[in-house]
Amino acid sequence: MEQYIVTAALPYANGPIHIGHIAGAYLPADIYVRYQKLLKKEAVFICGSDEHGAAITLRAKKENKSPKDIINFYHELNKKSFKELNIKFDEFDRTSSKEHHENASDFFLKLHSKKVFIKKESEQFFDEENSQFLADRYIMGTCPNCGYNHAYGDQCESCGSTLSPIELINPKSTISGNSPVLKKTSHWYLPMQKHEKWLTDWIENGNLNGKKHHNQKKWKSQVIGQCKSWLKAGLKERAMTRDLDWGVKVPLKDSDGKVLYVWLDAPIGYISATKNWCKKNNKNWENYWKNADTKLINFIGKDNIVFHCIIFPILLKEHGEYILPTNVPSNEFLNLEGKKISTSRNHAIWIHDYLNAFPNKADVLRYVLCSIAPENKDSDFTWKDFQSRNNNELVAIFGNFVNRVIVLINKYWDGIIPEAHDINDKDGIIINLTNSYPEKIGQNIEKYKFRDGLFELMNLARLGNKYLAENEPWKLFKINPDRTKTILNISVKIVFKLADLSQPFLPDTSKKLSDLLNYKLNDWTGASKPQYIKGGHQINKPLHLFEPISDEEISQEMEKLK
Ligand code: 2FM
Ligand code: ZN
Repeated sequence: MEQYIVTAALPYANGPIHIGHIAGAYLPADIYVRYQKLLKKEAVFICGSDEHGAAITLRAKKENKSPKDIINFYHELNKKSFKELNIKFDEFDRTSSKEHHENASDFFLKLHSKKVFIKKESEQFFDEENSQFLADRYIMGTCPNCGYNHAYGDQCESCGSTLSPIELINPKSTISGNSPVLKKTSHWYLPMQKHEKWLTDWIENGNLNGKKHHNQKKWKSQVIGQCKSWLKAGLKERAMTRDLDWGVKVPLKDSDGKVLYVWLDAPIGYISATKNWCKKNNKNWENYWKNADTKLINFIGKDNIVFHCIIFPILLKEHGEYILPTNVPSNEFLNLEGKKISTSRNHAIWIHDYLNAFPNKADVLRYVLCSIAPENKDSDFTWKDFQSRNNNELVAIFGNFVNRVIVLINKYWDGIIPEAHDINDKDGIIINLTNSYPEKIGQNIEKYKFRDGLFELMNLARLGNKYLAENEPWKLFKINPDRTKTILNISVKIVFKLADLSQPFLPDTSKKLSDLLNYKLNDWTGASKPQYIKGGHQINKPLHLFEPISDEEISQEMEKLK
């Protein structure tokens, strides 16, 4: 049987999640999984906290806490934010678990026994004051290419060039501020250059081991583009371990103080989390990760493309038993009010803050972030646009249509849906058109075009509004009651469809509609059935699905960003 393992990049538990994370990976992944489940496909949605890495130890040091304190706090906070935003993982695990440590160790040992790594000595920057080797991100200096003074050891954010820390002019440790010294250390390297040939055929043509593996046309062009440019430049060997006392220990003799780097840790976390979920649900995890019928879909942001399209596949293939991703639908970056989101400068909208300021408005954020998602290029979130999409689209189109229909049915027939009488040609066209929406929206979701899918959902509401405006049932009630019944019967069927079809995008709204309509939501195939509710069905009293957001509320939020 065909099944899906859908993963979303494990967020670091060193800070709260913000709108950029959600628009980049978690929301599209959630919509995708909800849709697959509505198609009655077996899909498991996997995520968890990435609880290792230098950023966590650094934060702990700064706050005078233990790394464990930091991860416990942010794991819970982020888990709650996801839950309240209705990002519904089947498993939200943590990489600090004993099971994950064992799993990642075993994975490393298997590759080690197959002689996949090369152990090599090199000189790396060391902070003498803190007696620790410095991760690339913790070294700053002048960029050799553009002269920018605050370039990081791995990248210059001004000219975008990829750097190695020894290339920096006048490097400084960001922990102590001192000039770091070079010190010898040894690490396990993955010689990626050996894999260029099969990776090229896999990424460019979708072939693996001489067979068709996946449909390359379904991969995003910017994902293929980024991989191609890496392959063209030539892959190098990369260290898979680091000197740090926090993480999954290298499970070999004489490797004290060395841990697996994120590449050999976080994505193995997807597997650990699946194992965990399987244990709870009495399933066999190998039936997912080691089964050619499984589609593995990795949702990520663009900073993780090489990681998931090159490094992780090499590791999986070298291991020998695992499947490779069917697709890596990466999004680009979301900016905020025209500027890059920055966690260090606090230029961000944190999800827990949003949910505090706008309780019960998870769907509004989901709606706006999906509408502007950086699917093919970077995009921009502004509070003004947020307000206008809420007021002019959710309230004025979706909410208004639903409300008018529910009010009229309550007013004329005490909430009992009337039978249709005289369906004319024009009605027929409308009915046929509304029946095409499940397919239209579904096709877009299958192609990872969530923006277009959501736009079509709104088009269905627009269609409903137009139908009401053209037929003006409120003017007909006294003169032609039968015609009024037909119009409202057709209209309320559009509301039922909106309830079903908004499930992947706006789960709270579909739930409200389900209550309002006194109706158990259908799966996707059910939503395509033309006449699925009979006249005589009792609905409930009108309520407002969405409410306008005022200028004051928006100003307050903008103020917070200053
Ligand atoms: O870049 C990051 O956010 C890391 N926590 C890794 C995410 S991808 C992973 F989970 F494989
Ligand atoms: Zn530069």
